[in-house]
Amino acid sequence: MLKITEPEFLLMKQYIEDHCGIHLQEGKEYLIESRLSDLVIETGSNSFQEFHLKTRTDSTGRLKERIIDAMTTNETYWFRDDSAWEYIREKAVPNILDIAKNSGKARIWSSAASTGQEAYSLLMLLDEAAKQKGNPSLLDKIEIIGTDISSQALLLAQAGRYSSIAMGRGLPKEKTKNYFTQQGTIWILDQSFKKRVTFKKFNLQDDFMPLGLFDLILCRNVIIYFSDKFKKSLFSKLARVLKPKGVLILGASETLRGFSDDFDIQYYKNAVLNIKK
Ligand SMILES: C[S@@+](CC[C@H](N)C(=O)[O-])C[C@H]1O[C@@H](n2cnc3c(N)ncnc32)[C@H](O)[C@@H]1O
Repeated sequence: MLKITEPEFLLMKQYIEDHCGIHLQEGKEYLIESRLSDLVIETGSNSFQEFHLKTRTDSTGRLKERIIDAMTTNETYWFRDDSAWEYIREKAVPNILDIAKNSGKARIWSSAASTGQEAYSLLMLLDEAAKQKGNPSLLDKIEIIGTDISSQALLLAQAGRYSSIAMGRGLPKEKTKNYFTQQGTIWILDQSFKKRVTFKKFNLQDDFMPLGLFDLILCRNVIIYFSDKFKKSLFSKLARVLKPKGVLILGASETLRGFSDDFDIQYYKNAVLNIKK
């Protein structure tokens, strides 16, 4: 592993924050060393300083993409955090189906979608609930968008292909049976089901307005990586693309308290809901 010097750490830390918002505190030198050393060597650089110079002539953006893929933490699994999913299953899903039925369209955004488990978990619950209502075609009136900054994570999300290990993390057996086909050690999400989620690359530092308005936004387990300044602007942008009374769900350890006045904080059992005022 290559050693990073203090001036090099400051250069790389700034580069990473500028391009994906991830804020590295002092003491996180090892994180850059462990995640980027191979790439530094692969690019023929002898030091992080030389590598940083290469980022300046990265006309294709390919190097930036590789750095972001390496520095983002794509940890995710099916139905992550019981309390949030209890709320989603019991309240959000029926509410989204009602919106779809009454106004002809409901929109949901999984805004740090990683490899897709969050968006597909939600889709499974919507599908089951629509069928239970005797109205499976309600699903056609629901648009689910999954976005992430990591191209690598998105490739897996779009492919809808998961290893046995990934499948074993939170996915109930009956859902595996209903929505996947096994090919060797890989599980493939049914094509007709998979196409109901649109995945695209999107940086949360960018303007949200082109995405349109949403009834429900999941922005989970990502703001922990951001600076307070970025959190503030992020919550303000999220508020602008949530419909009135729309719901924003954060990760279990995340809060917008102290960063935004645009939401009413409410509780459903142990889940925290941020409702657009
Ligand atoms: C830990 S995963 C969380 C996945 C999922 N939401 C969950 O809770 O299981 C965080 C994701 O945020 C993405 N991410 C980090 N910075 C981002 C940014 N500036 N814009 C969009 N996505 C970002 C990472 O690529 C990663 O896939």
